[in-house]
Amino acid sequence: MNATVAAARRKAPLDTPTGLRSDATRDISAALNALVADFFALYLKTKNFHWHVSGPHFRDYHLLLDEQGDQLFATTDVIAERVRKIGGTTLRSVGHIARLQRVSDNDADYVTPLDMLAELREDNLRLAARLRETHEQRWDGLVRDFRSLGIEPVSVPSHDYSDMLSSFLRWADLRQMWRGAIA
Ligand SMILES: [Fe+2]
Repeated sequence: MNATVAAARRKAPLDTPTGLRSDATRDISAALNALVADFFALYLKTKNFHWHVSGPHFRDYHLLLDEQGDQLFATTDVIAERVRKIGGTTLRSVGHIARLQRVSDNDADYVTPLDMLAELREDNLRLAARLRETHEQRWDGLVRDFRSLGIEPVSVPSHDYSDMLSSFLRWADLRQMWRGAIA
């Protein structure tokens, strides 16, 4: 038995029924897994700042960062399970996150509260931009696929964070639903 056959046999129990072609599963999973890694990295950075924030606004900032951290963490399971749903495999470890994350860590001994907020603001903006960019790249391909079938696809409601995430996930579902007709 060669190495390719052995690897395929090991992964067989993870096979998930999907209408996607293997290259589509691979591409979509890679895009989603990079986002999961970013959300985990930003979650931990936000908790790091939640734990280490100091100064006169401690209570407000401490609570704000906890709330933000909860929201970031909540996205990880939704996206990772979507990867499995379309037949891909997702993140397996902290090391896997570290290999994929595009959010930079901040291991400094001390960060001022305002620097923490400024850094998180930039990280969140960059993550939202990556989410939008990934969505638009994939969405454009889907729009072309739909139009070739004479179907006018639904529009993206806004660039709000949660709207973007839900439309991105809807895109993954639609892609799967229509792939059989388009292929
Ligand atoms: Fe806490």
